[in-house]
Amino acid sequence: KTYNVAILGATGAVGQEMLKILNERKFPIKELHLLASKRSAGKKITVNEKEYIVEETTANSFDNIDIVLGAAENDIAKKYLPIAVEKGAIVVDNSSAYRLDKDVPLIIPEVNPQDIKKHHGIIANPNCATIIALVALQPLHAYAKAKRMVVSTYQAVSGAGVKGIMELQQQLAALAHGKEVEIQTFQHQIAYNLIPQIGSFDENGYSSEEMKMQNEGRKILNSPELAVNCTCVRVPILRSHSESIMVEFEQPIDVEKARELLANAKGVKLVDDPKSNQYPMPLDTTDQDLVYVGRIRKDISTQANALSFWCCGDQVRKGAATNAVQIAELLIEEL
Ligand code: A2P
Repeated sequence: KTYNVAILGATGAVGQEMLKILNERKFPIKELHLLASKRSAGKKITVNEKEYIVEETTANSFDNIDIVLGAAENDIAKKYLPIAVEKGAIVVDNSSAYRLDKDVPLIIPEVNPQDIKKHHGIIANPNCATIIALVALQPLHAYAKAKRMVVSTYQAVSGAGVKGIMELQQQLAALAHGKEVEIQTFQHQIAYNLIPQIGSFDENGYSSEEMKMQNEGRKILNSPELAVNCTCVRVPILRSHSESIMVEFEQPIDVEKARELLANAKGVKLVDDPKSNQYPMPLDTTDQDLVYVGRIRKDISTQANALSFWCCGDQVRKGAATNAVQIAELLIEEL
């Protein structure tokens, strides 16, 4: 069986990667529609030697579509995805617009594939930093149940889309030629800098990105009590996020056991040989789908059952496009 698939936001960083991944994983496509704004209508995109023409998104774009992959911002998702559902499509959306809705499953295929059955037309793809953390955490959580996490993220500019990637590249080029940098996408210069703000701040001083780790993490792990303290930082890295994570577990778990579990976990590559300088780094996780985990050690600051580790993953792939295509693959197993 083959399916009519539309990508909403096909010209963006995530949309472009979805195209590549659908092709790579040989998703059974009948017709493929590339939807974007009016600005991109008519633009030609070649995939696997086949040329596609980008279409302006309108309500009619979703006629006869079986599966929509959403790779656009929240406002565009809210405007078009309910129309797609009304017309009978099933949507896998990468925006945060529907993630916490009760009747919208929030899925990481390695963590909670069973929840997909509860969908009512929309399935949400989690936040990229949350996906990368939970792919690494899941094998440990299944063994010892996580109860508290302290996370610091080091997030690539690709999280802000094509314009984030271009802003870093343009600033580095400008600085190399002694020119003034232009700041449009991020709050401050990102080249040679770190920005401890992703999203807007709440009344407690936490950013919207930081609260996603807790709120989405609770929903995906089905752990409403999970306590998360997160600091999200934008770093001048192109497309892999890195995260430092301390987890306190309900049950005992030692470093050896954690290594064994992670070595055998789906979607994970254990890279943990500090004596020979082997640990995950964002350059090594670029353009592939595994979350690399290493630097696993006992938390020496507490008597609790707590471990610290470090993980990296490609934000555009596993953090967004690959996870969405994997969800679509689970969907067609059900259809
Ligand atoms: P366009 O390239 O035509 O602006 P990114 O997050 O990488 O910037 O990507 C955002 C995606 O959302 C792009 O594909 C962009 O298309 C698309 N988009 C932006 N505005 C609209 C709109 N009004 N209708 C449909 N797609 C849109």
